Amino acid sequence: MTSATQRPAPAGAPAAPSSPGPFRTLLTALRSRQIRALMSLSRAFVAPVNRSAFLTGAASSGLLRELAAQPADLASLARRLGLEDEADRLRVWLDIGVKLGDLSCRQEKYALRSRHAKALADPGNDAVVGALEEVTRFHFTVLRDAPDMLRGRRRYSLGDQDGTVIARSSMIVKPFVEAAVDRVLTRQGQVRLLEIGCGSGLYVRHAARRNPQLTGVAVDLQPEVAALAARNLADWGLSERVETRAGDALKIGFDETFDLVTMHQNIYYFPVAERVEALRAVRSLVAPGGRLLITSSCQGGSASLEALNLWLTYADFGGPLPEENALVEQMAQAGFSEARSFRVVPGEQFIAFTGVNGRAS
Ligand SMILES: C[S@@+](CC[C@H](N)C(=O)[O-])C[C@H]1O[C@@H](n2cnc3c(N)ncnc32)[C@H](O)[C@@H]1O
Repeated sequence: MTSATQRPAPAGAPAAPSSPGPFRTLLTALRSRQIRALMSLSRAFVAPVNRSAFLTGAASSGLLRELAAQPADLASLARRLGLEDEADRLRVWLDIGVKLGDLSCRQEKYALRSRHAKALADPGNDAVVGALEEVTRFHFTVLRDAPDMLRGRRRYSLGDQDGTVIARSSMIVKPFVEAAVDRVLTRQGQVRLLEIGCGSGLYVRHAARRNPQLTGVAVDLQPEVAALAARNLADWGLSERVETRAGDALKIGFDETFDLVTMHQNIYYFPVAERVEALRAVRSLVAPGGRLLITSSCQGGSASLEALNLWLTYADFGGPLPEENALVEQMAQAGFSEARSFRVVPGEQFIAFTGVNGRAS
């Protein structure tokens, strides 16, 4: 009702309460402890969570690479992402990217804006994209859902994890793993290598480049991961020297033993109670006098490493990250001689373990 249609209040009636103006409302809101807490939470958490979720999707969908090539309008982006029928809904998502500051939109063309968006678009940073994806898809959910999972007695299974994301994010520790390989692999001489849980095949490539006479077998439990390794090894011209196999390396039944067996970042795929038994089975694949090299993130690291440990603790396969001394002890119990650990870089809970198959299995 407009004021022109309002009738004056009858004489003697109580005065209508005056409504506060917008600025007064704002001042009252700012004095509210609840609103202040909400604003501080929003600054500290909501914006970073939204940005990491958006950037994860933007990187994994291919949007960042498209925009790194050149700015593009909605129609051509929709076409290049295979979303021609969904352009309107795509726009709503892209416009949030603009609001978050990761994209810009000028004259109807979207482009990369933030330093982070540009870095994630760089193909050389694929491991960083994988790590971001691992954090937003797996670490974030376990940190959020842990109490509910405990109440519902729920566990994660291998299918809850995307093996190809893990294979990419694992590459973040590439310099550390390569340094550990360099400590045990000679530059010359014939070496038969067995890599258990080869992921992308990156470390097999490193070993093969370090020693041009090296040949071997790369195995991964997850067929899609083994397929990724096979494609990569073919692209790197190594298919002749390294055979790729899918399956549980401890059950394949090889008709040979290997001079060097490597297990990078997968000892935690074996439950703690079964690690000695698994290591015994691994020892049966090592030639007499041959060596096992394990590299692994271990317990006691940063909060983000502990989030990985949490996920593994809530999974129905494998177990938590190893404790350094416990794993050395398990290797010795499995019959490896000279079982020892060494820190590849100071200050990081990333540790290499070696043992020799000094006796008959
Ligand atoms: C965290 S990923 C690491 C991949 C790669 N080693 C790297 O460091 O980038 C662990 C991999 O080990 C594989 N794996 C676990 N247990 C295995 C087993 N018994 N035999 C073969 N592969 C296994 C998993 O399928 C997974 O791809």
